Amino acid sequence: MGLPSHVKLVEVSPRDGLQNLKSFIPTAQKLHLIEALSAAGLPVIEATSFVSPRWVPQMADCREVMEGIARRDNVVYSCLVPNLKGFQVACDAGATEIAVFAAASDTFSMKNTNCTVEESFERLEKVCNAARERGIRVRGYISCVLGCPYQGEVPVPEVVKVVEALDAMGCYEISLGDTIGVGTPAKAQRMVKQVAEVVPIGRLAAHFHDTYGQALANILAVLELGLSVVDASVTGLGGCPYARSASGNVATEDVVYMLDGMGIETGVDLQRLLEAGRFVRDTMGLEPVSRVFQALNRKSSVY
Ligand code: HMG
Ligand code: MG
Repeated sequence: MGLPSHVKLVEVSPRDGLQNLKSFIPTAQKLHLIEALSAAGLPVIEATSFVSPRWVPQMADCREVMEGIARRDNVVYSCLVPNLKGFQVACDAGATEIAVFAAASDTFSMKNTNCTVEESFERLEKVCNAARERGIRVRGYISCVLGCPYQGEVPVPEVVKVVEALDAMGCYEISLGDTIGVGTPAKAQRMVKQVAEVVPIGRLAAHFHDTYGQALANILAVLELGLSVVDASVTGLGGCPYARSASGNVATEDVVYMLDGMGIETGVDLQRLLEAGRFVRDTMGLEPVSRVFQALNRKSSVY
């Protein structure tokens, strides 16, 4: 299978991008960011997460964020849900799509969600069943698919086991998370090829953090296998509070620039995306790491 002609981008900055920040970003700013991302044409925006505010204080305003979104018809506003409690609150706040998350490493699972991988399946199955009853679509995430901050190497069969479990629970799409950004292209391809033997590649997504500067190369490597859903975060914001060695997600600008250059459609307007990035820099006070953001801003200040 060759490169796809269209890639669906899943924008995770309001959740993955902000969850790690110590100082609380006001709810109004989170909502402004979501609006700017919607205006840029992103088809899916992960707006917040209904996790415990004791575990992730930055997401304590999840309800207000979900309720406050000026929804557009052509955008899916998703959110992360760890358990039935979070699911209930997300539904009350008007969530129409959710994402559940598991890990391919027990130690990370314990640190991130206070349960083993096996125990997490029980928890998540309850959420998926409840979602099915309400007609809510569920996306599944797997962390540590190319390495764990605590256990190191993660064997691919461990990833496949979690993929099978999330598939059996009814997740319509499964996002493969290189949580700490340690993967390299050949390893990423090998992992995706094995996973695609149990779930069709059209239902897989790539979620690369850019800790070692490998994210774009890894994305290209898995696009070559026919994968066509990519998670990204404007300006390269991101990280996980329970994986200290993780840096930001791949920057959305960098992915859009690469795909535009290759003639692969995303429906995202790069100029408008830059406006969202300027909001992150100028109002939220967070310095963009995206190379494309930096280059295009230099260019627009010169001309
Ligand atoms: P726990 O402490 O074991 O929960 O946390 P519990 O069920 O024992 O409950 C303890 C207290 O928390 C109770 O309150 C519950 O009501 C409350 P109390 O009675 O003591 O007052 N509670 C909640 N409150 C609000 N919302 C909830 C909720 N659940 C329980 N949903 C839990 C277990 C899973 C909740 C916790 O570990 C947690 O919230 N973890 C989330 C950590 C997190 O958000 N990590 C980052 C997201 S994952 C990620 O970034 C990776 C990804 O990007 C992919 C990749 O890059 O790899 C997706
Ligand atoms: Mg992540």
